[in-house]
Amino acid sequence: AKFQKVAVLGAGAWGSSLAIILSKNIQNVSVWAREPEVVDSVKKSRTNSLFLPDIEIPENVAFTNNPQEAIENSELLVWGVPIQYLDATAKKFSPFVKDGAIMINAGKGIEIGTWRRPSQVLKACVAHSGACGSIMGPNIAFEVARGKYAEAVVALEDRVSAEMSAEAFTTPTFNVRPTQDVVGVEVGAALKNIVALAAGFCDGMNLGANTKAIIMARGFQEIYRASASLGAWSDSFIKESAILGDVLTTCMSPDSRNRRTGEQLGKGASVEAALAALNGRVCAGLETIQICRMFEKNGLKLPIMSTLCDLSEGKIDRATCLKRMLCA
Ligand code: 13P
Repeated sequence: AKFQKVAVLGAGAWGSSLAIILSKNIQNVSVWAREPEVVDSVKKSRTNSLFLPDIEIPENVAFTNNPQEAIENSELLVWGVPIQYLDATAKKFSPFVKDGAIMINAGKGIEIGTWRRPSQVLKACVAHSGACGSIMGPNIAFEVARGKYAEAVVALEDRVSAEMSAEAFTTPTFNVRPTQDVVGVEVGAALKNIVALAAGFCDGMNLGANTKAIIMARGFQEIYRASASLGAWSDSFIKESAILGDVLTTCMSPDSRNRRTGEQLGKGASVEAALAALNGRVCAGLETIQICRMFEKNGLKLPIMSTLCDLSEGKIDRATCLKRMLCA
């Protein structure tokens, strides 16, 4: 079975890239853009000059500012809006969602304070939808959009929905595997943001590849233990290379917002200055770093994430931060 119509909600770099990917397999792809300039730009030049410049948008991808137009009759909805806006957006768009439509979140993060995973937010907002889950992987948007080879994993509790969705996303340059471990994929995607801050901190402190590798490796162990404590499957982190792959690319890519923010902190910048350097783009890791306090309350020790959280709260200086992360 193939989807006849799919919709991407949110026209940022990643939403637009996924729309391009989906258009290779599905005839009718629509994208809801919040910004009128994006729709104008696609009309004029077949490019999203605001968020994904210089990359051609295929003719079978229709951009619109009208959510109903994008969503109605879509059998698969891909959510590309920042996680902290997911609840409000999904509630507003819910009346347009077709009964039983599969919903996949493409953002990486978790709701601040409530610590609801993206698929929990989606399911609560759109009760009449089908399976809800997420897609993650080492996916720097521009690289995927340019057709450089990448992989991802799509997680939905319902096996058939997961397989159908993975097939819809898979192209010769983008290989997507299905899994039913929604907790592992969503918590993994949220916590790798924080580990990438720590990797960036190492870059900023000029610590070299060896030290950074230890932080990355131990950070991955923390992600694994924290996810398992919430019910992630124990074999996902070995079996699904896209999960470790996402941690690695975010820790290494010069383009990663999380890594870059960590680098600023490592150079001694304040949290405010580090965020200002992103020019309004979101740093999901700093936004959600307090989640480590929840794990601490549950008796879990996550020295890298917790130490970084202390630094972000101004409780310790960089030298102490480094010492504590390395003695972990
Ligand atoms: P950030 O740019 O948010 O750090 O992450 C990029 C990413 O998720 C690569 O897979």
